[in-house]
Amino acid sequence: MQNDKVQIFDTTLRDGEQVPGCKLDKKEKLAIAERLDVLGVDVIEAGFPVSSPGDFTSVQEISKLVKNATVCGLTRAVENDIKVASEALTYAVRPRIHTGIGTSESHMKYKFNATPEQIMERAVKATAYAKSFVEDVEFYAEDAGRTDNEFLARVLEKVIQAGATVLNIPDTTGYCLPEEYGAKMRYLRENVKGIENVILSCHCHNDLGLATANSISGVINGARQIECTINGIGERAGNTSLEEVVMILKQHPTLNLHTDINTQLLYDTSCMVSEKMGMVVQPNKAIVGANAFAHSSGIHQDGMIKNRDTYEIMNPQDVGVNETSIVLTARSGRAALAYRSKKVGYELTKVQLDAAYEQFLNVADRQKEVKDDDIHMIMERIQMRAGA
Ligand code: KIV
Ligand code: ZN
Repeated sequence: MQNDKVQIFDTTLRDGEQVPGCKLDKKEKLAIAERLDVLGVDVIEAGFPVSSPGDFTSVQEISKLVKNATVCGLTRAVENDIKVASEALTYAVRPRIHTGIGTSESHMKYKFNATPEQIMERAVKATAYAKSFVEDVEFYAEDAGRTDNEFLARVLEKVIQAGATVLNIPDTTGYCLPEEYGAKMRYLRENVKGIENVILSCHCHNDLGLATANSISGVINGARQIECTINGIGERAGNTSLEEVVMILKQHPTLNLHTDINTQLLYDTSCMVSEKMGMVVQPNKAIVGANAFAHSSGIHQDGMIKNRDTYEIMNPQDVGVNETSIVLTARSGRAALAYRSKKVGYELTKVQLDAAYEQFLNVADRQKEVKDDDIHMIMERIQMRAGA
Protein backbone atom coordinates (compact mmCIF):
# COMPACT_ATOMS: atom_id res chain seq x y z
CA MET A 1 0.00 0.00 0.00
CA GLN A 2 1.59 3.30 -1.09
CA ASN A 3 1.73 6.41 1.04
CA ASP A 4 -0.59 9.19 -0.19
CA LYS A 5 1.90 12.02 0.39
CA VAL A 6 3.50 13.52 -2.74
CA GLN A 7 6.84 15.13 -1.99
CA ILE A 8 7.43 18.52 -3.57
CA PHE A 9 10.97 18.91 -4.91
CA ASP A 10 11.55 22.54 -5.82
CA THR A 11 14.16 23.25 -8.47
CA THR A 12 13.55 27.00 -8.91
CA LEU A 13 17.15 27.67 -7.85
CA ARG A 14 18.66 25.09 -10.22
CA ASP A 15 16.55 24.18 -13.30
CA GLY A 16 14.48 27.37 -12.87
CA GLU A 17 17.53 29.57 -12.71
CA GLN A 18 18.63 28.29 -16.13
CA VAL A 19 16.25 30.84 -17.69
CA PRO A 20 18.30 33.14 -19.94
CA GLY A 21 18.83 36.54 -18.32
CA CYS A 22 17.41 35.55 -14.93
CA LYS A 23 20.56 35.10 -12.87
CA LEU A 24 20.07 35.49 -9.14
CA ASP A 25 22.76 36.67 -6.74
CA LYS A 26 23.56 34.81 -3.53
CA LYS A 27 21.40 37.06 -1.34
CA GLU A 28 18.40 36.56 -3.62
CA LYS A 29 18.93 32.80 -3.68
CA LEU A 30 19.07 32.66 0.11
CA ALA A 31 15.87 34.70 0.41
CA ILE A 32 14.07 32.36 -2.01
CA ALA A 33 15.40 29.25 -0.25
CA GLU A 34 14.17 30.56 3.09
CA ARG A 35 10.73 31.23 1.61
CA LEU A 36 10.58 27.76 0.03
CA ASP A 37 11.35 26.22 3.42
CA VAL A 38 8.49 28.17 5.00
CA LEU A 39 6.21 27.26 2.07
CA GLY A 40 6.71 23.63 3.07
CA VAL A 41 8.58 22.10 0.14
CA ASP A 42 10.21 18.75 0.95
CA VAL A 43 13.35 19.23 -1.13
CA ILE A 44 15.17 22.36 -2.32
CA GLU A 45 17.51 21.79 -5.24
CA ALA A 46 19.90 24.61 -4.39
CA GLY A 47 22.19 24.47 -7.41
CA PHE A 48 24.87 22.67 -9.40
CA PRO A 49 27.90 23.16 -7.11
CA VAL A 50 30.66 22.25 -9.57
CA SER A 51 29.35 24.67 -12.21
CA SER A 52 30.86 27.81 -10.63
CA PRO A 53 32.35 29.06 -7.36
CA GLY A 54 29.23 31.23 -6.96
CA ASP A 55 26.93 28.21 -7.22
CA PHE A 56 29.12 26.27 -4.77
CA THR A 57 28.89 29.06 -2.18
CA SER A 58 25.15 29.45 -2.67
CA VAL A 59 24.55 25.73 -2.10
CA GLN A 60 26.80 25.87 0.96
CA GLU A 61 25.01 28.91 2.45
CA ILE A 62 21.56 27.48 1.68
CA SER A 63 22.65 24.25 3.43
CA LYS A 64 23.44 26.26 6.56
CA LEU A 65 20.21 28.25 6.40
CA VAL A 66 17.54 25.66 5.65
CA LYS A 67 16.28 23.76 8.68
CA ASN A 68 13.32 21.70 7.45
CA ALA A 69 13.68 20.75 3.80
CA THR A 70 16.24 18.39 2.32
CA VAL A 71 18.90 20.39 0.46
CA CYS A 72 20.01 18.89 -2.82
CA GLY A 73 22.92 19.53 -5.18
CA LEU A 74 23.00 18.43 -8.83
CA THR A 75 25.93 16.61 -10.42
CA ARG A 76 26.77 14.82 -13.62
CA ALA A 77 27.90 11.20 -13.32
CA VAL A 78 31.42 12.50 -12.79
CA GLU A 79 33.49 11.85 -9.64
CA ASN A 80 34.68 15.42 -9.21
CA ASP A 81 31.13 16.83 -9.54
CA ILE A 82 29.96 14.44 -6.82
CA LYS A 83 32.86 15.21 -4.49
CA VAL A 84 32.35 18.97 -4.89
CA ALA A 85 28.58 18.61 -4.30
CA SER A 86 29.21 16.63 -1.12
CA GLU A 87 31.50 19.44 0.14
CA ALA A 88 28.91 22.10 -0.66
CA LEU A 89 26.29 20.10 1.25
CA THR A 90 28.46 19.50 4.35
CA TYR A 91 26.32 21.73 6.62
CA ALA A 92 22.92 20.54 5.40
CA VAL A 93 20.69 18.94 8.04
CA ARG A 94 19.35 16.64 5.30
CA PRO A 95 21.74 16.51 2.34
CA ARG A 96 20.90 14.85 -0.97
CA ILE A 97 23.12 14.33 -4.01
CA HIS A 98 21.28 14.27 -7.34
CA THR A 99 23.40 12.49 -9.90
CA GLY A 100 22.67 10.88 -13.24
CA ILE A 101 23.29 10.43 -16.93
CA GLY A 102 21.39 10.44 -20.24
CA THR A 103 19.81 7.11 -21.12
CA SER A 104 17.99 7.76 -24.41
CA GLU A 105 19.41 6.62 -27.76
CA SER A 106 20.06 10.22 -28.68
CA HIS A 107 21.91 11.09 -25.46
CA MET A 108 23.96 7.89 -25.43
CA LYS A 109 24.99 8.32 -29.04
CA TYR A 110 25.50 12.08 -29.43
CA LYS A 111 26.32 13.30 -25.93
CA PHE A 112 28.36 10.40 -24.63
CA ASN A 113 29.32 8.37 -27.70
CA ALA A 114 28.91 5.38 -25.39
CA THR A 115 27.22 1.98 -25.49
CA PRO A 116 24.24 1.18 -23.24
CA GLU A 117 26.53 -1.05 -21.15
CA GLN A 118 28.99 1.81 -20.63
CA ILE A 119 26.19 4.16 -19.65
CA MET A 120 24.89 1.62 -17.14
CA GLU A 121 28.37 1.24 -15.66
CA ARG A 122 28.77 5.01 -15.27
CA ALA A 123 25.33 5.30 -13.68
CA VAL A 124 26.12 2.62 -11.10
CA LYS A 125 29.58 4.03 -10.35
CA ALA A 126 28.24 7.56 -9.84
CA THR A 127 25.44 6.36 -7.55
CA ALA A 128 27.79 4.24 -5.43
CA TYR A 129 30.28 7.11 -5.19
CA ALA A 130 27.55 9.57 -4.13
CA LYS A 131 26.39 7.03 -1.55
CA SER A 132 29.85 7.06 0.01
CA PHE A 133 29.16 10.70 1.03
CA VAL A 134 25.43 10.85 1.81
CA GLU A 135 22.63 8.44 2.64
CA ASP A 136 20.11 10.15 0.34
CA VAL A 137 21.03 9.74 -3.34
CA GLU A 138 18.69 10.62 -6.18
CA PHE A 139 19.48 9.22 -9.62
CA TYR A 140 18.21 10.90 -12.80
CA ALA A 141 17.96 9.10 -16.13
CA GLU A 142 18.16 12.14 -18.35
CA ASP A 143 15.73 12.06 -21.30
CA ALA A 144 13.92 9.12 -19.67
CA GLY A 145 10.82 10.31 -21.52
CA ARG A 146 12.39 9.11 -24.80
CA THR A 147 14.27 6.15 -23.29
CA ASP A 148 13.32 2.57 -24.08
CA ASN A 149 11.40 1.26 -21.05
CA GLU A 150 13.21 -2.09 -20.85
CA PHE A 151 16.63 -0.48 -20.83
CA LEU A 152 15.47 2.17 -18.37
CA ALA A 153 14.20 -0.54 -16.02
CA ARG A 154 17.57 -2.36 -16.17
CA VAL A 155 19.50 0.83 -15.36
CA LEU A 156 17.19 1.68 -12.47
CA GLU A 157 17.43 -1.79 -10.98
CA LYS A 158 21.21 -1.46 -10.92
CA VAL A 159 21.24 2.01 -9.37
CA ILE A 160 18.84 0.85 -6.64
CA GLN A 161 21.36 -1.89 -5.84
CA ALA A 162 24.08 0.77 -5.75
CA GLY A 163 22.14 2.74 -3.12
CA ALA A 164 19.78 5.18 -4.88
CA THR A 165 16.88 6.27 -2.67
CA VAL A 166 14.97 8.29 -5.28
CA LEU A 167 14.66 7.63 -9.02
CA ASN A 168 14.03 10.66 -11.21
CA ILE A 169 12.34 9.99 -14.58
CA PRO A 170 12.80 13.27 -16.48
CA ASP A 171 10.84 14.09 -19.58
CA THR A 172 13.78 16.35 -20.41
CA THR A 173 12.49 17.47 -23.79
CA GLY A 174 8.83 17.82 -22.79
CA TYR A 175 7.83 15.32 -25.48
CA CYS A 176 5.66 12.75 -23.65
CA LEU A 177 1.89 12.62 -23.65
CA PRO A 178 0.27 12.29 -20.20
CA GLU A 179 -0.94 8.75 -20.94
CA GLU A 180 2.53 7.74 -22.13
CA TYR A 181 4.35 9.28 -19.14
CA GLY A 182 1.91 7.67 -16.70
CA ALA A 183 2.31 4.30 -18.45
CA LYS A 184 6.09 4.63 -18.09
CA MET A 185 5.74 5.08 -14.33
CA ARG A 186 3.39 2.10 -14.15
CA TYR A 187 5.78 -0.03 -16.20
CA LEU A 188 8.67 0.86 -13.87
CA ARG A 189 6.63 0.10 -10.76
CA GLU A 190 5.74 -3.29 -12.18
CA ASN A 191 9.10 -4.26 -13.67
CA VAL A 192 11.94 -2.89 -11.52
CA LYS A 193 13.11 -5.10 -8.68
CA GLY A 194 13.40 -3.16 -5.41
CA ILE A 195 11.23 -0.26 -6.64
CA GLU A 196 9.01 -0.54 -3.55
CA ASN A 197 11.94 0.66 -1.42
CA VAL A 198 12.55 3.90 -3.35
CA ILE A 199 10.59 6.96 -4.44
CA LEU A 200 9.80 7.50 -8.11
CA SER A 201 10.00 11.15 -9.14
CA CYS A 202 8.39 13.14 -11.99
CA HIS A 203 10.51 15.82 -13.66
CA CYS A 204 8.63 17.27 -16.63
CA HIS A 205 9.39 20.07 -19.05
CA ASN A 206 6.75 22.19 -20.71
CA ASP A 207 7.79 22.26 -24.39
CA LEU A 208 4.32 21.11 -25.48
CA GLY A 209 2.48 22.66 -22.54
CA LEU A 210 2.09 19.24 -20.89
CA ALA A 211 4.44 19.43 -17.89
CA THR A 212 1.67 19.73 -15.30
CA ALA A 213 -0.55 17.08 -16.93
CA ASN A 214 2.40 14.69 -17.21
CA SER A 215 3.40 15.16 -13.56
CA ILE A 216 -0.14 14.50 -12.40
CA SER A 217 -0.32 11.42 -14.60
CA GLY A 218 2.99 10.31 -13.05
CA VAL A 219 1.70 10.48 -9.47
CA ILE A 220 -1.60 8.83 -10.39
CA ASN A 221 0.53 5.97 -11.66
CA GLY A 222 2.70 5.60 -8.58
CA ALA A 223 5.33 8.38 -8.48
CA ARG A 224 5.53 10.11 -5.10
CA GLN A 225 7.68 13.14 -5.85
CA ILE A 226 7.14 16.01 -8.29
CA GLU A 227 10.03 18.24 -9.38
CA CYS A 228 8.79 21.71 -10.15
CA THR A 229 9.47 25.44 -10.02
CA ILE A 230 7.63 28.51 -8.80
CA ASN A 231 5.69 30.03 -11.73
CA GLY A 232 6.85 27.07 -13.86
CA ILE A 233 10.04 28.94 -14.77
CA GLY A 234 12.90 27.10 -16.42
CA GLU A 235 14.83 26.68 -19.59
CA ARG A 236 12.88 26.94 -22.90
CA ALA A 237 9.16 26.62 -22.07
CA GLY A 238 9.96 25.90 -18.42
CA ASN A 239 9.34 23.19 -15.84
CA THR A 240 6.22 21.90 -14.12
CA SER A 241 4.63 24.72 -12.15
CA LEU A 242 4.63 24.08 -8.39
CA GLU A 243 1.46 26.03 -7.69
CA GLU A 244 -0.46 24.14 -10.39
CA VAL A 245 0.36 20.60 -9.24
CA VAL A 246 -0.14 21.48 -5.58
CA MET A 247 -3.59 22.98 -6.21
CA ILE A 248 -4.64 20.14 -8.54
CA LEU A 249 -3.95 17.63 -5.77
CA LYS A 250 -5.74 19.83 -3.21
CA GLN A 251 -8.82 20.44 -5.40
CA HIS A 252 -9.16 16.76 -6.35
CA PRO A 253 -9.46 14.91 -3.02
CA THR A 254 -10.69 11.79 -4.82
CA LEU A 255 -7.12 11.25 -6.03
CA ASN A 256 -6.22 10.58 -2.40
CA LEU A 257 -2.91 12.40 -2.76
CA HIS A 258 -1.70 15.38 -0.77
CA THR A 259 1.31 17.66 -0.29
CA ASP A 260 2.52 19.55 2.78
CA ILE A 261 2.55 22.92 1.01
CA ASN A 262 1.02 25.89 2.84
CA THR A 263 -1.06 26.96 -0.15
CA GLN A 264 -1.91 30.37 1.32
CA LEU A 265 1.70 31.41 0.65
CA LEU A 266 1.58 30.52 -3.05
CA TYR A 267 0.65 33.93 -4.43
CA ASP A 268 3.21 35.84 -2.35
CA THR A 269 5.93 33.35 -3.24
CA SER A 270 5.07 33.69 -6.92
CA CYS A 271 5.36 37.51 -6.68
CA MET A 272 8.65 37.23 -4.82
CA VAL A 273 10.25 34.94 -7.43
CA SER A 274 8.86 37.00 -10.30
CA GLU A 275 10.28 40.19 -8.80
CA LYS A 276 13.71 38.75 -7.95
CA MET A 277 14.08 37.11 -11.35
CA GLY A 278 12.71 40.11 -13.24
CA MET A 279 10.33 37.77 -15.00
CA VAL A 280 6.67 38.76 -15.26
CA VAL A 281 3.98 36.18 -14.67
CA GLN A 282 1.60 36.01 -17.62
CA PRO A 283 -1.79 37.43 -16.54
CA ASN A 284 -3.68 34.27 -17.53
CA LYS A 285 -1.27 31.96 -15.64
CA ALA A 286 -3.26 29.39 -13.63
CA ILE A 287 -3.42 29.99 -9.86
CA VAL A 288 -1.09 33.01 -9.60
CA GLY A 289 -1.71 35.12 -12.74
CA ALA A 290 -3.33 38.56 -12.30
CA ASN A 291 -6.49 37.31 -14.05
CA ALA A 292 -6.71 33.91 -12.32
CA PHE A 293 -9.57 35.15 -10.12
CA ALA A 294 -10.86 38.04 -12.25
CA HIS A 295 -14.23 37.82 -13.98
CA SER A 296 -15.01 40.19 -16.82
CA SER A 297 -17.89 38.93 -18.94
CA GLY A 298 -21.41 39.97 -17.95
CA ILE A 299 -22.76 36.41 -17.88
CA HIS A 300 -19.96 35.19 -15.61
CA GLN A 301 -20.19 38.24 -13.35
CA ASP A 302 -23.93 37.78 -12.91
CA GLY A 303 -23.36 34.11 -11.96
CA MET A 304 -20.52 34.97 -9.58
CA ILE A 305 -22.57 37.64 -7.79
CA LYS A 306 -25.35 35.09 -7.26
CA ASN A 307 -23.00 32.33 -6.11
CA ARG A 308 -19.21 32.04 -6.61
CA ASP A 309 -19.53 28.30 -7.15
CA THR A 310 -20.90 29.06 -10.65
CA TYR A 311 -17.52 30.07 -12.08
CA GLU A 312 -14.83 29.46 -9.42
CA ILE A 313 -13.48 26.04 -8.54
CA MET A 314 -11.26 27.27 -5.74
CA ASN A 315 -11.25 29.94 -3.10
CA PRO A 316 -8.75 32.72 -3.94
CA GLN A 317 -7.83 32.98 -0.24
CA ASP A 318 -6.61 29.36 -0.36
CA VAL A 319 -3.74 30.52 -2.57
CA GLY A 320 -3.21 33.84 -0.80
CA VAL A 321 -5.18 36.10 -3.16
CA ASN A 322 -7.40 38.47 -1.14
CA GLU A 323 -10.54 38.29 -3.20
CA THR A 324 -12.16 37.56 -6.51
CA SER A 325 -12.30 40.63 -8.74
CA ILE A 326 -15.25 41.65 -10.85
CA VAL A 327 -13.63 43.67 -13.64
CA LEU A 328 -15.96 46.24 -15.18
CA THR A 329 -15.78 46.34 -18.97
CA ALA A 330 -18.20 47.01 -21.82
CA ARG A 331 -19.28 43.35 -21.47
CA SER A 332 -20.41 43.84 -17.85
CA GLY A 333 -24.10 43.98 -17.03
CA ARG A 334 -26.19 45.94 -14.53
CA ALA A 335 -25.63 43.34 -11.80
CA ALA A 336 -21.86 43.87 -11.93
CA LEU A 337 -22.20 47.66 -11.93
CA ALA A 338 -24.58 47.53 -8.94
CA TYR A 339 -22.21 45.15 -7.11
CA ARG A 340 -19.12 47.29 -7.70
CA SER A 341 -20.99 50.54 -6.94
CA LYS A 342 -22.15 49.10 -3.60
CA LYS A 343 -18.53 48.16 -2.77
CA VAL A 344 -17.45 51.77 -3.27
CA GLY A 345 -20.39 53.21 -1.31
CA TYR A 346 -23.42 53.64 -3.58
CA GLU A 347 -26.63 51.71 -2.94
CA LEU A 348 -28.61 52.35 -6.17
CA THR A 349 -32.35 52.25 -6.82
CA LYS A 350 -33.51 50.69 -10.08
CA VAL A 351 -33.95 54.12 -11.69
CA GLN A 352 -30.50 55.26 -10.56
CA LEU A 353 -28.95 52.03 -11.81
CA ASP A 354 -30.52 52.47 -15.26
CA ALA A 355 -29.16 56.01 -15.47
CA ALA A 356 -25.74 54.97 -14.21
CA TYR A 357 -25.59 52.04 -16.62
CA GLU A 358 -26.16 54.27 -19.63
CA GLN A 359 -23.25 56.48 -18.53
CA PHE A 360 -21.19 53.43 -17.68
CA LEU A 361 -21.47 51.99 -21.20
CA ASN A 362 -20.25 55.28 -22.67
CA VAL A 363 -17.17 55.19 -20.44
CA ALA A 364 -16.61 51.46 -20.98
CA ASP A 365 -16.69 51.87 -24.77
CA ARG A 366 -13.94 54.50 -24.53
CA GLN A 367 -11.60 52.61 -22.20
CA LYS A 368 -10.71 48.96 -21.57
CA GLU A 369 -11.71 48.91 -17.93
CA VAL A 370 -13.99 51.03 -15.75
CA LYS A 371 -12.26 51.75 -12.45
CA ASP A 372 -13.57 52.93 -9.07
CA ASP A 373 -12.69 56.57 -9.89
CA ASP A 374 -14.87 56.32 -13.01
CA ILE A 375 -17.77 55.05 -10.88
CA HIS A 376 -17.46 58.06 -8.57
CA MET A 377 -17.48 60.33 -11.62
CA ILE A 378 -20.58 58.58 -13.07
CA MET A 379 -22.39 58.85 -9.73
CA GLU A 380 -21.59 62.56 -9.46
CA ARG A 381 -23.00 63.10 -12.94
CA ILE A 382 -26.26 61.27 -12.30
CA GLN A 383 -26.67 63.05 -8.95
CA MET A 384 -26.11 66.39 -10.68
CA ARG A 385 -28.68 65.49 -13.32
CA ALA A 386 -31.18 64.41 -10.69
CA GLY A 387 -30.63 67.72 -8.86
CA ALA A 388 -30.90 69.83 -12.05
O1 KIV B 1 15.48 17.93 -17.39
C1 KIV B 1 16.34 17.17 -16.92
O2 KIV B 1 16.56 16.06 -17.41
C2 KIV B 1 17.10 17.63 -15.78
C3 KIV B 1 18.02 16.66 -15.11
C4 KIV B 1 19.39 17.21 -15.04
C5 KIV B 1 17.48 16.24 -13.79
O3 KIV B 1 16.94 18.76 -15.34
ZN1 ZN C 1 15.06 19.61 -16.11
